[in-house]
Amino acid sequence: MVRDFQRIISIEMKQQILEKEGRLPSAVIACVGGGSNAIGAFYEFIQDRQVRLIGVEAGGRGTELGEHAARFKGGAPGVLQGTFSYVLQDADGQIALTHSVSAGLDYASIGPEHAALHDSGRAEYVSQDDAAALGAVVKLARTEGILPALESAHAVAEALRLAPTLPAREILVVNLSGRGDKDMGILARELKL
Ligand SMILES: Cc1ncc(COP(=O)(O)O)c(C=O)c1O
Repeated sequence: MVRDFQRIISIEMKQQILEKEGRLPSAVIACVGGGSNAIGAFYEFIQDRQVRLIGVEAGGRGTELGEHAARFKGGAPGVLQGTFSYVLQDADGQIALTHSVSAGLDYASIGPEHAALHDSGRAEYVSQDDAAALGAVVKLARTEGILPALESAHAVAEALRLAPTLPAREILVVNLSGRGDKDMGILARELKL
């Protein structure tokens, strides 16, 4: 149900990029907490195999369990809140604590449709850490005048990493899932503004 409502994101993305550029993007990049904005951004492109689908999880402040929310890198199959997916858990299957500077990515499991896209290889999942996300907020604010949510900033950070490795004509679409106004307190603290 969430996927069906959120897919309006990729319906509009596809329409707008075709109108503006006349071709599909090389990649769609979205942050992944529970997974709703990313599945919405990916869905209409799943059949377009030439479009890379890149989900960005929270790398937090370290690789130890409890320091991040990178379910694919640090988790294992398990059940949380009634869904079988990748879950951050200890050796006994107890749900692990998570950390991210963005509250919305700070979740121990991930929507099961992402688990299927991961296992089939159709989508790629990477992580960006707190520092990279904070840097991406500053960069996007300074260069474009857009204050992204800290969650969305993880996707921006991945675009900033990926773009210089690609030919200039390639198109990246980054889903800005929310505004950073709500994060001003955290930004002031973390960036020592
Ligand atoms: C702005 C924003 N983006 C992304 C997310 C992550 O959630 P989801 O992965 O379900 O889109 C949240 C969650 O609160 C959010 O507030």
